[in-house]
Amino acid sequence: MLLKIPSVLSKEQLVHGRAVLEAAEWIDGNVTAGYQSSQEKNNIQLPEESAAAREVGDMILGSLATQLTFMSAALPCKIFPPLFNCYQNGHAFGAHVDNAVRYVKGTPVKIRTDISMTLFFSEPDEYEGGELVIEDTYGTHKAKLAAGDMLLYPSTSLHHVTPVTRGRRLASFFWLESMVRSDEQRRLLFDMDMSLQRIRIENSDHKELVPLTAVYHNLLRQWVST
Ligand code: NI
Repeated sequence: MLLKIPSVLSKEQLVHGRAVLEAAEWIDGNVTAGYQSSQEKNNIQLPEESAAAREVGDMILGSLATQLTFMSAALPCKIFPPLFNCYQNGHAFGAHVDNAVRYVKGTPVKIRTDISMTLFFSEPDEYEGGELVIEDTYGTHKAKLAAGDMLLYPSTSLHHVTPVTRGRRLASFFWLESMVRSDEQRRLLFDMDMSLQRIRIENSDHKELVPLTAVYHNLLRQWVST
């Protein structure tokens, strides 16, 4: 499932986050690439353990924890600490699939990547190119979102970033392991949860709300692993 989560960060958070990122020291992006993707990757990023990455990363994670649409769609079990990249001067990232497992540096934590996320820090009119292109069975999807918006997409998909030919594209990218491994099952649960929320808004006393909510939780109980 491809899903846009709008306004993960407020304007104030964006301004602060950008200031921290712009003052930080950047390194070659290939430090977190596997062998295959290192052939395709050409950008710069913040070191995983940098104080700037942790500060802005924690701000993102704090905000996501309050986003009901994100929580419902992703059902996160473990989230990789957000990383940050920058594309400029023709930087691009050719077609690749993200590594299946990510190790959190300096810890014993490993995360199966079920969902990939890109949170845009630059506005679309600040740069030329830099589209995130995702291929799935329905075809090709291009994303170039407003600053503060985030895209969720299956980590199983082939994707690439087109060359940035003008300006600079700052973004955060990271992954999560979901409590529900199957994209299809997560989609069903998300659709049902969204539908329940709409019924609740229209008629909070609807007598079917309780039994339908029970079905949601009992389906989740069937599929969840924590
Ligand atoms: Ni990727």
